Amino acid sequence: MKEWTTLLDGIKQLQLRTIPEPSGIELKDDEVLVKISRVALNHRDAKIINGDFGGSYKAPSNRIVPASDASGTIVRVGGAAAAAKWRKNDRVLSLMRPTHLTGPATTEAQAAGIGIPQPGVLTKYRVFQSSGLVAIPDYMSFEDASTLPTAATTAWMALNWDRGIGSPRRGKDTVVLILGTGGVAIAGLQQAKSLGLTVIITSSSDAKLERARQLGADYTINYKTITDWATEALRITAGKGADIIFETGGPATMAQSIQCVAAGGNICAIGVLSGVTDDVQQGQANGLNLIRKNAAIKGINVGPRDRMEEMIREVYQPQQLHAVIDRVFAFDEAREALQYLYSGSHFGKVIIQVE
Ligand SMILES: NC(=O)c1ccc[n+]([C@@H]2O[C@H](COP(=O)([O-])OP(=O)(O)OC[C@H]3O[C@@H](n4cnc5c(N)ncnc54)[C@H](OP(=O)(O)O)[C@@H]3O)[C@@H](O)[C@H]2O)c1
Repeated sequence: MKEWTTLLDGIKQLQLRTIPEPSGIELKDDEVLVKISRVALNHRDAKIINGDFGGSYKAPSNRIVPASDASGTIVRVGGAAAAAKWRKNDRVLSLMRPTHLTGPATTEAQAAGIGIPQPGVLTKYRVFQSSGLVAIPDYMSFEDASTLPTAATTAWMALNWDRGIGSPRRGKDTVVLILGTGGVAIAGLQQAKSLGLTVIITSSSDAKLERARQLGADYTINYKTITDWATEALRITAGKGADIIFETGGPATMAQSIQCVAAGGNICAIGVLSGVTDDVQQGQANGLNLIRKNAAIKGINVGPRDRMEEMIREVYQPQQLHAVIDRVFAFDEAREALQYLYSGSHFGKVIIQVE
C-alpha cells in the first residue's frame, strides 16, 4: 500500500512510498487498526512540511508521514483493553494529540502530537491507541468528521475555554470577532452562530465575506480595504468591542485586537499568520492597553478529547451541522492540496480523500 512521507524539506519533496499491506501489522492490547477514509489539512501541516513551523521541530532523520486529522473505520481491534471501547467497523476520528484527554495540553501530550513528532495520517491504514479516538456521530460523513480534530476543536476552545463542560456561552450579547476565513475561522463562525452569538468576521476577499454572510455572519470587514479594522469593529459594536477575538494573525494584528477587545474580554491567541517579531516597544504598548482593557490574552492549543466530545454533543449533533469544505483532492494529489491550502485561496477546509 502507499503512504505520503516528508523530510520537512518542502511540499514539492513530498514522496509516495510503498509499504507492506496492513495484514502483517501486530496490535498491542490497547491498539486498533484504522482504515483511513479522509484527511483534513491544516495550516500546521503545510508549515511543518515546509520546515518552517517555528523553532521547536527539527527535520527528522527518517521520512515521516505528515498530517494529523483523519476519519476512518476500525478494521481490527487489538486486545481486551481496546475491545472495551471499540468494535470492528466503528467509525472514528483522530485527536491531534492522542494523549490529551482533559485539561491543558501538557508537555508530554504535546510531544505525542500526530503529524510531528509522531507519524501522521496521510496513509491508508494507521494504528491508534484506543483512547486517542472519538466516535463519529451517525449523521456525519467521513469528510465532515475529518475537519473536527484540529480546526473545529480549536474554535470550540476559543469560544468556551473559560466555561465548564456542558455550559457553552450562548446568546447574541456575546460578540465574537474572527480574523480570516480559513479552517479555524469558519468552524468558529458556524459554532458561534449555532450558539446564537454575534459574529464579526474579517477577510481579504469580498467574495469570501459574502459566503460568510450566507453562513450567518452578522458583520463583515475586508481587512485589506479597511486596514483600521479595529476601529470598524468598535463602530459596529457602538464602542463596546468584541468579547472574544480569534487572534490568528499574531504580531501584525495583535495591537488592533487589543484596541477592539471589550472590557474584560478574551483575546484567544491561536496563530501567527502574519509572522513573528520581537518589537519591544509595541509589546509594551500592547501590555499597557491590555491593562486598560482589563482583558486577557489566552493561548489556545487545540483542545482535549473531553472538550471535542462536548463540542460534538453541544453543536454538531443537535444541529446536524456540516463542515464547510472548499475542495476535496484525490490521495495522489496531496502536493496540489497542500499548495492550494498554502495559497490561502480556500474558504473553510481542504480535504484529501484517502480511500
Ligand atoms: N493554536 C492552535 O491550537 C491552532 C490550531 C489550529 C490552527 N492554528 C493556527 O491558526 C492559524 C489559522 O489556521 P487554519 O488552519 O485555520 O489556516 P488556514 O485554513 O490556512 O486559513 C488561513 C486564512 O487566514 C487568513 N489570514 C491570513 N493572513 C492573515 C492576516 N494577516 N490577518 C488576518 N487573517 C489572515 C486568510 O483568510 P482570508 O483569505 O479570508 O483573508 C487565510 O485564508 C494558523 O496560524 C495556524 O497555525 C492554531
